[in-house]
Amino acid sequence: MVCLGNICRSPLAEGILQEKAFKAGLSWSVESAGTNSYHTGEPPHPLSQKVAKLNGIDISQQRARRFKADDFDIYDKIYALADDVMEEMKKIARNKFDAAKTNLLMNELYPGKNMDVPDPWYGPEPGYHEVYKMIDQVCEKIIEKYTVTNQRFANI
Ligand code: 4NP
Repeated sequence: MVCLGNICRSPLAEGILQEKAFKAGLSWSVESAGTNSYHTGEPPHPLSQKVAKLNGIDISQQRARRFKADDFDIYDKIYALADDVMEEMKKIARNKFDAAKTNLLMNELYPGKNMDVPDPWYGPEPGYHEVYKMIDQVCEKIIEKYTVTNQRFANI
């Protein structure tokens, strides 16, 4: 899960998908990063932490780190939370950028719409709630997709 600062949106995405995967019995390791290093080493934004906590998810132990080209060697799937983030990922990863592993997160819910998860950084608390809702819905869809696939395999 990749955003710009790795303190507002992608920590929520990491926490939400990790929690849903765990509850669905999927042994996924979900992590997050940012394309800039302004906040490297910092915990998630207090309002991201607050909104997560209100929804029963603790993201306080996360620490921001910068996205790197080698992430394409490590992860099976890499989601950009917004299109400007995707462009930065291409610049950072250069020849390691793998389009087959990458997607805009919201395309999992609204295929082909190329919708961004808006950056709540400059705004007040309601923006964080809105972002939480969007990420929660798309993560639910991702879990559905992979659990349905598993069931199909189990039936063969
Ligand atoms: P995020 O939000 O990408 O959702 O973590 C931002 C946080 C900080 C900055 C930009 C976006 N910043 O420029 O410091």
